[in-house]
Amino acid sequence: MILLDGKATSQTIRTELAGEVRALAEKHGRPPGLAVVIVGEDPASKVYVRMKVKACHETGILSRHLELPESTSQAELERVVDDLNADPSIDGILVQLPLPRQLDAQPILDRINPDKDVDGFHPVNVGRLALGLPGFVSCTPAGCMELLRRYGLRPEGKHAVIVGRSNIVGKPLALLLQQPTEMGNATVTVCHSRTPDLAEHTRRADFLFAAIGKPGMISGDMVKDGAVVVDVGISRTDDGLKGDCDFEAMRDRVSAITPVPGGVGPMTIAMLLRNTVDSCARRLG
Ligand code: GUN
Repeated sequence: MILLDGKATSQTIRTELAGEVRALAEKHGRPPGLAVVIVGEDPASKVYVRMKVKACHETGILSRHLELPESTSQAELERVVDDLNADPSIDGILVQLPLPRQLDAQPILDRINPDKDVDGFHPVNVGRLALGLPGFVSCTPAGCMELLRRYGLRPEGKHAVIVGRSNIVGKPLALLLQQPTEMGNATVTVCHSRTPDLAEHTRRADFLFAAIGKPGMISGDMVKDGAVVVDVGISRTDDGLKGDCDFEAMRDRVSAITPVPGGVGPMTIAMLLRNTVDSCARRLG
């Protein structure tokens, strides 16, 4: 069994990116810049945002951390996005989700310049992905694919099963896996909360992607012998952080699996940095 080490892989990527960042800064007189906007006090969001800002610093990317009060209005947040869109030192804009209840996320995401949308959430970037055009890809699905690529695990000709149909993970993963590209060419099944007999599908997966957010929901007997398992879920439980897959129950029958924590999570942040560096390189020519 191969443990797909996202922590070590992301560290390798971050070292590579630090070199690109230095070269960009030398050539153009400024480093890549990422604005990270958080509204309110959601504790999990604060942890994620802190990790993203720290990762920027360690890579030489300039980060602007904007912390707005819980009471921020739609118009105020739109103003912040407009200012960041117009700011030439900012290459990437990330608005951490979820937003407080009074705010409507979609019009905010729609307002971000698609060429600064390093989260890949803007409809233009989702559309580009659907059409196979270049654009920003959502960081978690991109991180899953990059982790597999670096371990030489290609889904081509295989049956990939995704559990979860979210806009952030399941949907873009399904698009990436079916594309006629190096890491695509899989036959894709997407399962979700209304799928009857989930196990019947997961047992047929050569590549299984679990993105549900229910700890341990994929049990050992739901995976095929020799499958490659990518566990995107991360839930806080009394036993610590847990993935969607029962890791201990399947570790001896799979050929490769991501641990939680230390699998997909660090890869997500590495892809955010990758997108920011790409955005900067594109902007500066
Ligand atoms: N909330 C949970 N995951 C994400 C993410 O990848 N980006 C943003 N902006 N918010 C999130």
